[in-house]
Amino acid sequence: MTLKEKYGSWALITGASSGIGEGFAKRLASENMNLILVARREERLKKLSDELKAKYGVDIVVAPVDLSKQNFLENLKEFVRDREVGLLINNAGFGFAGEFAKSDVEQQADMIRVNCIAPTLLTHHYVQQMKERKKGAIIFLGSLVAYQPTPLTTTYSATKAFNLFMSEGLWYELRDYNIDVLALNPGGTDTEFQQKANTSSGPLPRTVEEVINTAMKSLGKKISVVDGRYNKLLSFIPRIVTRKTIVKLAGRVRKKHYTSLSIK
Ligand SMILES: NC(=O)c1ccc[n+]([C@@H]2O[C@H](COP(=O)([O-])OP(=O)(O)OC[C@H]3O[C@@H](n4cnc5c(N)ncnc54)[C@H](OP(=O)(O)O)[C@@H]3O)[C@@H](O)[C@H]2O)c1
Repeated sequence: MTLKEKYGSWALITGASSGIGEGFAKRLASENMNLILVARREERLKKLSDELKAKYGVDIVVAPVDLSKQNFLENLKEFVRDREVGLLINNAGFGFAGEFAKSDVEQQADMIRVNCIAPTLLTHHYVQQMKERKKGAIIFLGSLVAYQPTPLTTTYSATKAFNLFMSEGLWYELRDYNIDVLALNPGGTDTEFQQKANTSSGPLPRTVEEVINTAMKSLGKKISVVDGRYNKLLSFIPRIVTRKTIVKLAGRVRKKHYTSLSIK
């Protein structure tokens, strides 16, 4: 069965202007899905849209929408109109490295709006149509850091734990409606993320293509997936040591790393 037959003809991808979201757009277009591309950088979305339309002949809607704004869903609905969203990819997100107490609290709140509130509102809205059609799929972007608190990226890891929990809970709630839900948990992956968050992708960064392969292999089969063997191993450690130990360990590693980047 093709993705279109299984889920419907349109996929809505948030954060499609770079990194993992752009990777999803390329992969899904190659599998003949029509796309709704969401992000703030319109020029990037238009360029990607032109490239994919020319290469695969699919229909694409470019939706320049800021997911941190309170009215973002009303704004987005004007672009989506009556198109049936069969696959929703809650991918847009950003991080911040540094001490919470010294951070810009509005930036922290924006992170929660983009990483948590937007996926909640989008999912609640589009799942109604999926339920009626008795088919559909939703992917949430968790992270390796969803499995444990990470000091100095504290709010970020909390937002990713939110995505993992939402996704796994909904996997159960929605399976009776024939809706697949997957929590995709990448470790360090080479995208623009690190530069924006002032962090690093670690010793064994993965490529966007590897992450997308993991997602597409797991969708409809697993409840959640950690991308890559090394990351899988790391995600297992919090299960075998105490919470205090793992938080101290993560804190020490990050303190050393961020001190070397002069983040105090
Ligand atoms: N890269 C990693 O190591 C890694 C690891 C684990 C999980 N993740 C997760 O993977 C997802 C994708 O990140 P990435 O690595 O692909 O990073 P990225 O290259 O920085 O992409 C982030 C995307 O989110 C969009 N975005 C950010 N703020 C937005 C807003 N206010 N409104 C609309 N769109 C917004 C950006 O578009 P605009 O700037 O154009 O709006 C961009 O398209 C995130 O949820 C991240 O937490 C990444």
